[in-house]
Amino acid sequence: MEHDRAALLAALALQLDWGAEEALAEAPPDRRAEARAVGPRAEARPAGERTEPHAVDEGAGGLAPVAAAERPAPTRPGPRSVATLPPIVAPPAAGRAAAAAAQADSLDALREAIRAFDGSPLRETATNLVFADGDPASGLMLIGEAPGAEEDRLGRPFVGPSGQLLDRMFASIGLKRDEGGFYIANILPWRPPGNRTPTDGEVALFVPFVLRHIALVRPRHVVLLGGTAAKALLKSKEGITRLRGKWHPIAVEGLGEVPALATLHPAYLLRTPAAKRDAWADLLLLRRSITE
Ligand code: URA
Repeated sequence: MEHDRAALLAALALQLDWGAEEALAEAPPDRRAEARAVGPRAEARPAGERTEPHAVDEGAGGLAPVAAAERPAPTRPGPRSVATLPPIVAPPAAGRAAAAAAQADSLDALREAIRAFDGSPLRETATNLVFADGDPASGLMLIGEAPGAEEDRLGRPFVGPSGQLLDRMFASIGLKRDEGGFYIANILPWRPPGNRTPTDGEVALFVPFVLRHIALVRPRHVVLLGGTAAKALLKSKEGITRLRGKWHPIAVEGLGEVPALATLHPAYLLRTPAAKRDAWADLLLLRRSITE
């Protein structure tokens, strides 16, 4: 009994770890039983035999049996030509993201464009939009990866443990978030379930919004926090350990080239304290560059 309880708790912990945060039904659905009830998959049938959905078994379903002669003649539709298929209404999400981003002419408009953009399922699982924080007029824009649990709960970037480390690091070179020291946002505005690493597709979908965000803020310098932000905006396949510690140009429409410093993500520094030495070197480089 105690053993069963421990096993169930371990299974539950694993599911939470993998991002399952909500029970949608009392019992797990038996997909194989559903497939048996529907019969062979429609696409496995020869062309022309595709049928509209219909009641599977009238007798078993409790409807009164009807004599064959009384039944209406079957109205089996003939094969549908491609021309009669319903039109595809939504253009591909990537194109819609780029168009929505380009139309935003202020930070408020951009925030609302991102909120309204329905091309990513992350919007459905997140609690709050995490747009940005700090002072957009500071001249320095930091860009991280994606919100975590605490950010999702409060709707503000970098407010969990890694955000607290980040605030201490930047304060040590005189840049305080709540005193106009910097502005901060993420590549993804929605939390990936279970804090998983964003996929390349998710990153690519939101890059147009991030580039528009930079164009509207017009920072003199950008800092890319971690590999996801660095690879996405520098369009590089190199790892963060190769990209960090150097200034790289980012081409931003309407703004030209903005210098971006790649550095280690504070969450990585929490796990790898020995890397703080490199992060400190990057901070000194940043301070030299912005005071030049
Ligand atoms: N990590 C990030 O990259 N962004 C946040 O907002 C929080 C943690």
